[in-house]
Amino acid sequence: MKLADYKATLSFSNNSPSMEMPVYQGSVGPDVIDIRKLYGQTGMFTYDPGFLSTASCQSAITYIDGDKGELLYRGYPIEQLATQCDFMETCHLLLYGDLPNAQKKTEFTRLVTTHTMVHEQMQFFLRGFRRDAHPMAVLTGLVGGMSAFYHDSTDITNPQHREIAAIRLIAKLPTLVAMAYKYGIGQPFMYPQNNLSYAGNFLRMMFGNPCEEYVVNPVLERALDRIFILHADHEQNASTSTVRLCGSSGTNPFAAIAAGVACLWGPAHGGANEACLNMLEEIQASGGLNKVGEFMNQVKDKNSGVRLMGFGHRVYKNYDPRAKLMQETCKEVLAELGLENDPLFKLSMALEKIALEDDYFVQRKLYPNVDFYSGIVQRAIGIPVNLFTGIFALARTVGWIAQLNEMIGDPEYKIGRPRQLFTGSARRDVPPINQR
Ligand code: ACO
Repeated sequence: MKLADYKATLSFSNNSPSMEMPVYQGSVGPDVIDIRKLYGQTGMFTYDPGFLSTASCQSAITYIDGDKGELLYRGYPIEQLATQCDFMETCHLLLYGDLPNAQKKTEFTRLVTTHTMVHEQMQFFLRGFRRDAHPMAVLTGLVGGMSAFYHDSTDITNPQHREIAAIRLIAKLPTLVAMAYKYGIGQPFMYPQNNLSYAGNFLRMMFGNPCEEYVVNPVLERALDRIFILHADHEQNASTSTVRLCGSSGTNPFAAIAAGVACLWGPAHGGANEACLNMLEEIQASGGLNKVGEFMNQVKDKNSGVRLMGFGHRVYKNYDPRAKLMQETCKEVLAELGLENDPLFKLSMALEKIALEDDYFVQRKLYPNVDFYSGIVQRAIGIPVNLFTGIFALARTVGWIAQLNEMIGDPEYKIGRPRQLFTGSARRDVPPINQR
């Protein structure tokens, strides 16, 4: 850690001595107060449930300015990456710190492509699940199970192990997601095909079958590639922090990423696109555009427990830049498939328009997030709703692994061990059973 840029003084109203703490400036973004010596000097902890004011680490990967609605991967704006680069270049950028030149891109893509097959025995592991299991339950198991299949890359302290584990995870996630899907619908697994792009290969493994040739639609391929780019990393969100915390114990990368998959499943995080599409379908079933006003009243009623899914974000207090790009992709995909009049798309446009003009949303700075449109795109491509979060996990894997590797390489890294404000019973003695 660099030397302090300036200092902050903490004083107490009970006459305890005050304490000086170093303050550091990042390259951009808010300064941080270094409280590491607080407990040693005062015997006190800080209290910050949900980490509203806590930087858990230093990181040089992703930067978000929530007020501006800006997202940068290694300094590059998401808008430029989504329109000028593909997912393989984005993966290289996140993992190694810079965009590849043409030769490096070819080498990296080749490396990923030649690791897309999974151990044949993984099929039998997968076959142990019920066919109706939720794909995220299956994926949590399969990703965790990778550590049993790839023993030669489980030492997190070995940079070569970390490197090959990263490539294996990025390469094999599409294969595993597609296998989970095929298993659920009772179709044969499709082996990866190495002459296709990352997104094209995934489309074929999902929607191809062994009886006929699968022709990749370039519009859908580009849309999927963009979904992957937009979801590739997002700073210290819940699942990334989970991966870091899990990995901080020295566990293997597959186990740490499996923890991230499990965290992502929740409806407040990666599960939001699934929840968002379910919400749109429910409104449509109950009367569509005519019911939008009624639904919005429920959303604004605190006692209803109803939220407008795909709206709001812990960090973005402005339009999520990914939502704009996803809206553009949404229009392209619907036009390509002749679905311009898709009722759910129309419904989402109506909901967005009302919400952006409504005081409730304006005052709370609630804007559409990436999930608001990604569900419609995925549904149009033919991806079932319960697989949406799996697609998100596939795309976020590179971010998780880049963040995990950054943490392990950080000389200040320690096992994560938060403290608590204890509110339970103080010491007491166990009474005999007949007196309880
Ligand atoms: N619909 C209606 N009201 C909302 C919504 C919403 N989607 N989101 C926030 N609010 C309201 C809250 O009720 C609260 O109102 P109050 O101040 O009157 O009590 C206020 O806005 C602030 O909300 P918090 O929940 O405190 O904000 P927080 O930062 O904790 O939550 C979250 C962010 C979880 C994303 C929230 O906005 C939400 O639940 N959104 C819907 C789910 C969603 O789309 N998640 C995707 C996140 S993006 C991603 O993971 C890729």
